[in-house]
Amino acid sequence: MGFIEEIARRRTFGIISHPDAGKTTLTEKLLLFGGAIQEAGAVKNNKIKKTATSDFMEIERQRGISVATSVLAFIYKDKKINILDTPGHKDFAEDTFRTLTAVDSVIVVIDVAKGVEEQTEKLVEVCRMRNIPIIVFINKLDREGRDAFDLLDELEQKLGLSVTPLSFPIGMGYDFKGIYNIYEKNINLFSGDSKKNIEETIAFGTIENQELENIIGTKAAETLREDLELVNGVYPKFNKEGYLSGKQQPVFFGSALNNFGVRELLDCFIEIAPSPRPKMAEERLVEANEAELTGFVFKIHANMDPKHRDRLAFVKIVSGTFERNKPYLHVRHNKKMKFSSPNAFFAAKKQIVDISYPGDIVGLHDTGSFKIGDTLTEGEQLNYKGIPSFSPEHFRYINNADPMKSKQLYKGIDQLMDEGVAQLFTLEMNGRKVIGTVGALQFEVIQYRLEHEYGAKCTYENFPVHKACWVEPEDSKNEEFSEFKRVKQRFLAKDKRGQLVFWPIHNFHYR
Ligand code: G4P
Repeated sequence: MGFIEEIARRRTFGIISHPDAGKTTLTEKLLLFGGAIQEAGAVKNNKIKKTATSDFMEIERQRGISVATSVLAFIYKDKKINILDTPGHKDFAEDTFRTLTAVDSVIVVIDVAKGVEEQTEKLVEVCRMRNIPIIVFINKLDREGRDAFDLLDELEQKLGLSVTPLSFPIGMGYDFKGIYNIYEKNINLFSGDSKKNIEETIAFGTIENQELENIIGTKAAETLREDLELVNGVYPKFNKEGYLSGKQQPVFFGSALNNFGVRELLDCFIEIAPSPRPKMAEERLVEANEAELTGFVFKIHANMDPKHRDRLAFVKIVSGTFERNKPYLHVRHNKKMKFSSPNAFFAAKKQIVDISYPGDIVGLHDTGSFKIGDTLTEGEQLNYKGIPSFSPEHFRYINNADPMKSKQLYKGIDQLMDEGVAQLFTLEMNGRKVIGTVGALQFEVIQYRLEHEYGAKCTYENFPVHKACWVEPEDSKNEEFSEFKRVKQRFLAKDKRGQLVFWPIHNFHYR
């Protein structure tokens, strides 16, 4: 297969949702269709590892599939599908936002009973700002939930989407009979048997067909006809260009747990979802079909495999091919680097690959050369932009709880900061270290990982600040600035890059 065909067959996307809407379940069913896993429950079992402490449970629950297996790839109908996993919990939102820089489209999962929730709103807003094509999957139709039209209204009002349903539910909860697939013009009857992963569909042609009564009953047939008439009257016809430019969002209904409506979603997805899209760098727009490699690091993760204490930098390939042992330019360091064992991801496993194409993610073993946002090229000075970095809102002093292990502690802190888990500040006044995070759960993750991955122990102390302001004077030698530093010394710190940070507080006493 040629380079252009390889690009055209790739679909790299993320599934986003508020926690518990069914993202993991849907991911698992998609993997089942791709033959990437053999049985339902495989992803879930991996996700929740039972342990003694409940705090750790929560971290592992988040880490499970979400962090440890960040990329899930499989082949379906000759399409190479790369799912980039995104943690749902708000405290991990920064990780999710960064991952969204590497996707070409997203599927948003909504719980039929809960509708649009807080995390969905935030994540969808980011996608809309970047015109990322969105498909919505309304999940848990086997349960009693909200009226389909109400939900469609809510998607428009709360998320600012312009929706068009491509399937429509027949009943719901106890009365859930199945789904009319507007896109394929057929009916899919619900049997409630999750083991059947290929559903029987009844081709229907026109909805006026009197067979409908025999299949779903007179009342349901009447309601469905009315509903579809309303759909036709109210919502615009599906327009692929509209979807691809982020102006229209198709909606599917189903039940991930029962593997119902998932095949329709996937079949439509591979047909309409974009292959790798062009990406804007600071210097220019880069097309996927350019011959030379360009790519950027969107995630770094250390110690994914406890047996091999290594660190992987995840690179999204934007253009060209990534080849094993070929030298590439690390633009920030202005240094050529070769990679003898780039990892590709298949299902939940990684394996060494010789060649990867635009849309693919390669995992590079990293000994500290990479930072999130770094660009690789074949020599061009190019910098991908738009990797978001968030201002921390939670701060705590970090103390070494085991003086014998300070080396391990500092190595661990250093590496976790490079992953973008949190930011480290050193106070100008007394040299004490302060960690700043976007979410409070991060402190637990850091403490846990320092202990289990680096053998170091830390404790925290309250640091009553909720905001940090980076100070960037036009002229750092200017007298006014020197005076500012002198007067405000108690409220100043340096971040890891040595940049000055100011805490905007008044009554504060250092300990
Ligand atoms: P998340 O990754 O978005 O956080 O959600 P996840 O897939 O873990 O699903 C959250 C809960 O919703 C799970 O139940 C899951 O089984 C359930 N669920 C997912 N899809 C459906 C569906 O179509 N119908 C129904 N009725 N439930 C669904 P749980 O009790 O939290 O976990 P478990 O004990 O089932 O594993």
